[in-house]
Amino acid sequence: RIPVIIDTDPGIDDFFALMLANSSGKLDIKAITSVAGNQKWELVTKNALDIASYFHMDCEVAKGAEQPLNIPPRTAGYIHGENGLGNLVLKAEKKSLSPDYAWDIIYKKAVEEKGRLEIIAIGPLTNIAIALLKYPNLHKLIHRVVLMGGSSDIGNTSPYGEFNAVADPLAAKIVFRSGMPLVMVGWNAAVKSKLTPEDIDQLKAIDTPYTGDCSFLWDFERKAYKGFGKEYIILSDALAAAYAIDPAVMECKDYYVAVETASSLNLGRTVVDFGHVCKDKPLNCSVGIEVNKDLYLKMLIQMMKHYRKE
Ligand code: BDR
Ligand code: CA
Repeated sequence: RIPVIIDTDPGIDDFFALMLANSSGKLDIKAITSVAGNQKWELVTKNALDIASYFHMDCEVAKGAEQPLNIPPRTAGYIHGENGLGNLVLKAEKKSLSPDYAWDIIYKKAVEEKGRLEIIAIGPLTNIAIALLKYPNLHKLIHRVVLMGGSSDIGNTSPYGEFNAVADPLAAKIVFRSGMPLVMVGWNAAVKSKLTPEDIDQLKAIDTPYTGDCSFLWDFERKAYKGFGKEYIILSDALAAAYAIDPAVMECKDYYVAVETASSLNLGRTVVDFGHVCKDKPLNCSVGIEVNKDLYLKMLIQMMKHYRKE
């Protein structure tokens, strides 16, 4: 099993990413680290603890950054609800936070795993950036980072800006320049993993102790997307977890990717050098381009079936 840390700002799609990661049997979840993003740090940290307890995940949960590195926090209650989980209250036993901060756990586990550790980063990249700054040799100890963030074309927060990158552009710049092997599950890829009402009905039909709450969250998302005139939903973070489990779910190509931190209109845009114009720059990122939607849906069905067996 691959040792992983999941860095997250739960978040409805983060919930499903954690649920999927926990179900696959392929990932050994060493820790969950919280980061301010979809909601304020207090809420996402509580949600991370509750989700870990709800799915009986036997791993540490550590608190991370309370705000982005150099700009005020931005939240996304319009798509994740006021508590970050569609206002759903999970029936979970109280779990305690790790005494360590996110960046220290990331380093500690990276050292323990001797270069095998992967990070699934599905929130703003603040914690990872802090870890890189605090521990200058960290980049050499990470096998790879699968990150949901950025986009090679359209954005969801500004014309070309995706939420996690826009929420902390400086952190994203630090991560993209770090030299760690990166896989970018950008918004451009996420839109190819759209779940239709029929897909959701298939998932809802699988009876598990979690199906009621999952259906509630899917319905909450459907309502939010309907508000934007969309009939589908996108669980972007679940696609990142799916890729970490089985890379066949997304086709990638290596490019030089830089993060815009100066412009106001393009703040947080991940600029992908498709034409290989910057010849002196490294191919620092494996960019997700195509999604195998059938496989992705199969993995979600498999996830539901796993919890049926529990
Ligand atoms: C990303 O932003 C957040 O709202 C989601 O949880 C996901 O990580 C999608 O742009
Ligand atoms: Ca997220």
